[in-house]
Amino acid sequence: MANRAIYPGSFDPVTLGHLDIIKRSSELFDEVFVAVLHNVAKKPMFSMGHRMRMIKDLCASCLNVHVIAFDGLLVDAAGEVGANIIVKGVRNLTDYQQEVEMANINRLLSGIETIFLPARAEYTHISSRIVKELARYGGPLGEYVPKQVEAELQKVMRKEKET
Ligand code: PNS
Repeated sequence: MANRAIYPGSFDPVTLGHLDIIKRSSELFDEVFVAVLHNVAKKPMFSMGHRMRMIKDLCASCLNVHVIAFDGLLVDAAGEVGANIIVKGVRNLTDYQQEVEMANINRLLSGIETIFLPARAEYTHISSRIVKELARYGGPLGEYVPKQVEAELQKVMRKEKET
């Protein structure tokens, strides 16, 4: 059976940690669907289209990686693309605790198993939240996001300052 994985997140914006999980997943599974959460309640810094485009551009060389939008239940999005595995990156114990809970709910809802990939040591401190905070205060971003994403963050910051 072909293994199709779905890797969900807000990706606001995508970080080097996310991209590492996507690349490793693309080597483990036949197809990988990066599922970008459409959650207006979260007031994202980047629009859905912008978040998806950044991931698509950065993953263009991984031919088995696809980027989709979703809202509602993750297991419904998994069903729509025929994914039989959920992938999650785990950085620390806090992530693990939250992810085990979600993995159990998702398995009860659908039977789909979640596979955890440990974040590389050099990426355990990276989060989209920290990246946005650094960007707001002009901190260095080079170790957290690719150059293209850094440029997009700086554009948004310039716009915010103008308004
Ligand atoms: O990048 P994030 O914001 O930490 O990702 C969270 C995400 C998208 C993985 C999580 O919010 C999610 O799976 N949302 C879908 C809603 C759902 O399926 N809930 C039931 C499982 S607990």
